[in-house]
Amino acid sequence: MTLSKALIAKFDSTSVVAVIGAGAMGAGIAQITAQSGHRVLLFDQNEAAIFKAKESVALQLHKRVLKGKLSQENYDLCLENIIPTYSMDELASADLVIEAIIESLEVKQSLFLELESICKETCIFTSNTSSISITSIASKLSRPERFLGLHFFNPAPVMPLVEVISGLASDQVLAKVLYKACMRWGKKPVYAKSSPGFIVNRVARPFYAEALRILDEQGASISQIDELMRECGHFKMGPFELMDLIGHDVNYAVTESVFRAYYQDPKFKPSLSQKSLLEAGFLGRKTGRGFYQYNSNGEKYLQNNITDLPIDRNWTESKAPDGLIKQIQVTSKQENQPSQMSPTKGLIERFLSNNFYFDNETNQDLEQQIITIFTFGEAHIGLTNGLTATERAKEEKLNNLVLFDLAFDYSSITKLAISASDNCSSQALDDAFTLFDLIGITLIKLDDIPGLVLMRTLAMLTNEAVETRLQGVATGEDIDKAMCAGVNYPQGPIAWGQRVGLTLIHQVLTNLQLSYGEDRYRPSSLLRRLSVSGKKIVNELAQ
Ligand code: NAI
Repeated sequence: MTLSKALIAKFDSTSVVAVIGAGAMGAGIAQITAQSGHRVLLFDQNEAAIFKAKESVALQLHKRVLKGKLSQENYDLCLENIIPTYSMDELASADLVIEAIIESLEVKQSLFLELESICKETCIFTSNTSSISITSIASKLSRPERFLGLHFFNPAPVMPLVEVISGLASDQVLAKVLYKACMRWGKKPVYAKSSPGFIVNRVARPFYAEALRILDEQGASISQIDELMRECGHFKMGPFELMDLIGHDVNYAVTESVFRAYYQDPKFKPSLSQKSLLEAGFLGRKTGRGFYQYNSNGEKYLQNNITDLPIDRNWTESKAPDGLIKQIQVTSKQENQPSQMSPTKGLIERFLSNNFYFDNETNQDLEQQIITIFTFGEAHIGLTNGLTATERAKEEKLNNLVLFDLAFDYSSITKLAISASDNCSSQALDDAFTLFDLIGITLIKLDDIPGLVLMRTLAMLTNEAVETRLQGVATGEDIDKAMCAGVNYPQGPIAWGQRVGLTLIHQVLTNLQLSYGEDRYRPSSLLRRLSVSGKKIVNELAQ
């Protein structure tokens, strides 16, 4: 029997796990594996760290006992399973090693070289590295096939995702063994090929990068972008709130490492504003100041924050005149692909349920077509396609053009970003504010930036996810699963992009590329192909 076949038969909850590195990640990984019944040998070069890690696990588990989520018996068993280990030789009985020491290629390589002479032939070696190539760590080993990545997310006991990463030499059967083990530990594993950023740390880059870019161009303020991404994007946190939580040192380092690893691809270019926070020592929540400031209770506020902009214009009260006619004219429209739902369906339904009617359009027309521009009073209004309102007004020979942003679900939002063409009259703007106010949506007027906030971010996320799939790093399903389980996205970026329409996503990217004249926004060749064929690569309903 080959080594890998023997392991499939053998690896179960009676197998011994060695966790090396008892820091933030190691402690969490020890907790997960001990809770699943494994004997866990917890080793660290610093003995105090082992003691501290066990104490922190005890504290976390005790909280679960108090909440009634864990029995006292299981608490005792789990803590008994974590065995402080003070010498590397004591790791000889391990069936699986999970390494979570400092992020250094040389240190990790020399650790595994030493382990090769201590551990059994059948022991599987894994690293929790977030940025080092699995292929490179394995390259010094005499048996690189038994080495894989097992990338947990912080805090490990809470975040469900684990990326099971194969290097060039990794045995695929062992990847399956680890996948099954993660399932038994109650995790949501995905397979990935070793490449810079793996799945999540690569595909998530535009979530931060587009927000930073918009801020750098003074297109919208920090608090506006965060609010719009939460309200319209259904993200749990806005990008600036999340960067402050992660820490700018960590977030910037990941961006820089991905940028370097992809040979300075402009898609991953780090931001100078974030770098200046780093230089100032404003690392986020942990130092009390990042993009926001935090008081001693952890509450955030913007104070003396020169990077935040005054709100350009907000609607405070309805100015709808008495006897207003609730008529909307369809100014331009296009046929939809047969299986594609119009991205603005929820908005149109909201107008209809508030007694607006669309001139000369039946309800069936409205369902089957995409209304690209509609007119109310003096305002021509449309969903952004990645051009600025000023460029599009010229292209479509329309004055007074107002563009609105994408929403995850137009039926529930209370706020929405808009931009207006440079020649837009104040009456047209008033008309747009009135129209949306009458269906319960407060508009937030931003500068005339291309693709507004959510649409351009989603277009870039979908593009990166599709490109990651094109390069065979992971399947489309696993990429979407990783982004939901690893960073809490409301829907996977491929399924979400498909729902909005890959033709529109492609158009947004092409127009952003035109507006900025930059390679950063180039669409993936696979996205381009799908936008032409209408083919979908993930099942949206499976999400
Ligand atoms: P940490 O700094 O909290 O803990 C590292 C521990 O490793 C320390 O206790 C240190 O004493 C020990 N250590 C260092 N060199 C050692 C050696 N040669 N032998 C034995 N022990 C050694 O670090 P953290 O945050 O737990 O990260 C560990 C690994 O997990 C890194 O590779 C990191 O990139 C990765 N990771 C970190 C995440 C995070 O959010 N912190 C998320 C996912 C992965």
